[in-house]
Amino acid sequence: MNLTRKILSSHLAKPSDMKAGSEIFIKVDHTLTHDINAVMTYLAFEAVGLPRTQVELSVSYLDHNLLYLDHKTPDDHIYLQSAAKKYGVYVSRPGNGICHAVHVARFGKPGKLSMGGDSHTPHGGAIGMLCIGVGGMDVATAMTGVPMRLKMPEVVNVRLTGKLKPGCNAKDVILEMLRRVTNKGGLGKVYEYTGEGAESLEVPERATIANMGAEMGATTSIFPSDENVRKFLKAQDRENDYIPLAPDDDSEYDSVIDIDLSKLEPLCACPHQPDNVKPLSEVEKRNVQQVFIGSCTNASYSDIAKAALVMKGRKVAENVSCTCAVSTKSIYTQLLRDGYIEMMLDAGVRFLELACGPCCAIGQSPATKGVAVRTTNRNFKGRSGNPNAEVYLVSPESAAATAVTGTFASARDVLGDDVKILADIREPEAYPISDSLIIEPLTPEEATKVEVVKGPNIAYLPVPEAPEENLTAKISLKAGDNVSTDDITPASAEFSSMRSNIPLMSKYCFHRYDPDFAERAKNLGKSIIVGGENYGQGSSREHAAINPMFLGVKCVIAKNIARIHKGNLVNHGIVPMLFENPADYERLEQGDTLEIAGFPEQLKAGRVKVVDKDKGFEFWAKPDMTDSEVEISPDGGQLRHLRKQLEEMGIITKGE
Ligand code: F3S
Repeated sequence: MNLTRKILSSHLAKPSDMKAGSEIFIKVDHTLTHDINAVMTYLAFEAVGLPRTQVELSVSYLDHNLLYLDHKTPDDHIYLQSAAKKYGVYVSRPGNGICHAVHVARFGKPGKLSMGGDSHTPHGGAIGMLCIGVGGMDVATAMTGVPMRLKMPEVVNVRLTGKLKPGCNAKDVILEMLRRVTNKGGLGKVYEYTGEGAESLEVPERATIANMGAEMGATTSIFPSDENVRKFLKAQDRENDYIPLAPDDDSEYDSVIDIDLSKLEPLCACPHQPDNVKPLSEVEKRNVQQVFIGSCTNASYSDIAKAALVMKGRKVAENVSCTCAVSTKSIYTQLLRDGYIEMMLDAGVRFLELACGPCCAIGQSPATKGVAVRTTNRNFKGRSGNPNAEVYLVSPESAAATAVTGTFASARDVLGDDVKILADIREPEAYPISDSLIIEPLTPEEATKVEVVKGPNIAYLPVPEAPEENLTAKISLKAGDNVSTDDITPASAEFSSMRSNIPLMSKYCFHRYDPDFAERAKNLGKSIIVGGENYGQGSSREHAAINPMFLGVKCVIAKNIARIHKGNLVNHGIVPMLFENPADYERLEQGDTLEIAGFPEQLKAGRVKVVDKDKGFEFWAKPDMTDSEVEISPDGGQLRHLRKQLEEMGIITKGE
């Protein structure tokens, strides 16, 4: 068996032949949430009525929005901290670091299966964990101990040979993958990295690759648990958590990709998609306005140390605003001790909080039509907070070289043959360990005394209705290809702080994509969204489903829908459907009236006839749902469905 199948089969809750594309049910070991997505998760868990998380480990990270612009975000953080105490959940407080980097360092264990309310949860695949990004309602469901549904993925073996040259980074490996596979090529797939090239990569390098598998739409990515994982866990003073894990020698895979690491050159994802990849040397040498070095993807010890060596003794060019956010407190401490922070400060870099920050538009938006170069994982139009900026994604070494030259440059462009000094940078043999910003769960008895604190920013969790028998509704939006959840629910310090208040947040639904959408959908009362390819790609934020649902959207009909967003639509009572004939997309227009007769019955039958009443034609759509997801719709979404399941199992009492 390959490694993915080994871990999945050891977590099966029901027997299955695990055929790719079939639905499997799995037990979850870890759950992870973060502050700007989690309030709805814990409100849902509270509404289910269980006293405590039922999985081995749940962690609530306060790491994304640390800019307290007004009362809203502190209200959220106080709520999340108190809810964690009530429900037996660890808290990683603001300042401890970015969720994925902290989780892999302090909690992750090879062979475990985790579900996190963030699309970059697969980061943990670096240590041989199977980590899957899902929506917040799915995390709440996992916390009840109910087995989770998953479409059995195909498993792709990525065979890595050779060794990265100095000046090349694991970022260049995943950009090469994106160049080949595209931003939707990973749908329904797990990428399993093996070979001597994989062995040569340290855990944070593997994490960069696993993390950005999300940009290909993959279910997850994973590396074997080997000597490098043992070394990493030992450096975290957790060697006892190490177990070796590898695919069998005669493993079968659905397909194979070969990459020779020694042939890679520094790459760059150009605006406005992570798969728009070119060799960095071919990017036009324009003036760069902003450089940001940070994020869960590329702010490890080695990443920052290499960036510092590129900048050592040089100055950030005067046209460039350069900021850096290290991923964890522990790494920051070691970088300080080793003098790398001082090198960057001397060069003119401004250090930000140990948080996501600019990655999700929480501060440091680029200037008007600004060219921004970032080490983050997404460059969707507007994700930086400024829709007319152009964001390019590169490695930390390339970002540092760009910052000091003022235009696109690689580490070799700056260091020449001295670029080889970067090869000497390795991860520390022992990280400075201090869990002073981690709050451990209370005992069940102590937890009963905890009051959950809900400030005025914590509104209610809207619950959808079951689909109507006969649906007649207008198309409120005809969206193009690659609409991201950032387009549907914009990020920024201001918008993120509204996510606990759906009546308020829903007013900004599609705000940057189509500013009139929210008003239009609300006035229609009920409506249908039509989408192109890869609808709902990107972040796992379930608000991209909750807000349209709140505005009366009943179904999305698209050419295809990204995995996590599709799950969120189902959970929040919006029916996801795919055009049987994608050419029908062209015939539809915003404002057309569509009619679906006998909707629930047609959903069960797996084929839905849709009539365009205005244009007088009909077409067929296919529910993009598994058998068990089809059962959720008549209950009016996952929360009601879950309560029903738990009542039937005798775990909670009806009406509790
Ligand atoms: Fe945070 Fe950006 Fe990663 S928002 S979790 S640093 S993708």
